Amino acid sequence: MIEDIIEISKSAGEIIREGFGTNFNIEFKTNESNLVTTIDKASEKLITEFIKKKYPTHGILAEEGGETKNSSEYVWVVDPLDGTTNFAHGLPIFSVSIGVQKNGKTIAGVVYDVMQNIVYSAELGSGSFAGKNKLSVSKNDKLSRSVLVTGFPYNISENPDNALEKFSALTLASRGMRRLGSAAIDFCYVARGVFDGFWEVSLHPWDMCAGKLIVEEAGGIVTDFLGNETNIFTKRMLASNRLVHNQILEILKKN
Ligand code: IPD
Ligand code: CA
Ligand code: CA
Repeated sequence: MIEDIIEISKSAGEIIREGFGTNFNIEFKTNESNLVTTIDKASEKLITEFIKKKYPTHGILAEEGGETKNSSEYVWVVDPLDGTTNFAHGLPIFSVSIGVQKNGKTIAGVVYDVMQNIVYSAELGSGSFAGKNKLSVSKNDKLSRSVLVTGFPYNISENPDNALEKFSALTLASRGMRRLGSAAIDFCYVARGVFDGFWEVSLHPWDMCAGKLIVEEAGGIVTDFLGNETNIFTKRMLASNRLVHNQILEILKKN
């Protein structure tokens, strides 16, 4: 199955790459910050048609098309274009993210970094990879020497969960904070050891399904802000190299 997920992620990525910088149509979803383009929709159509043809009994949870429910124990969780704001503004940081769950547990995940042409993949119990290279999280155990990454939900103007106070506090406590604009890529950079931690106050299942497995299979950990285990419906999320996890949690709890 992993080969199929990789193949369809790359095909969707081709649609996105070809659409980048062209005159695609943009619509607003909940507000003027929350965009969807014709390219998001075209990517999702390709992926869901592939799943329906090759795995007709499987369920689908995809960002732009809602749900296809059925009795199968398998569900594909799909973000057809993660990083739509970057894409729409010409910043080449975006991805395709596809996770597959069996009975509610993620068993495989792929994040395709479209413009760098890197396939991140993981299967439960078999490690994480960028192409053929095995990934490991960083070995740094000091928050003061960590580089962290975050993202903001589209209702950030309401400052949900004191996201802005958390941002300030962690920016001051760490070596640096980044905001790349693709949650799926943020997870992969934790898995690679580029970032020591990634936190966000309000993620969706499709933002994290694949990325969470990729971090865990690279030796990292993913919890909520209280240190509890998460599933794909948990909104608050901290992914890290394990070693700085508690130091970050302490600050998230206080702010
Ligand atoms: C968004 C990106 C962003 C994150 C947002 C997501 P989208 O996904 O992953 O980095 O901060 O929370 O909604 O809308 O580009 O698929
Ligand atoms: Ca997303
Ligand atoms: Ca998306």
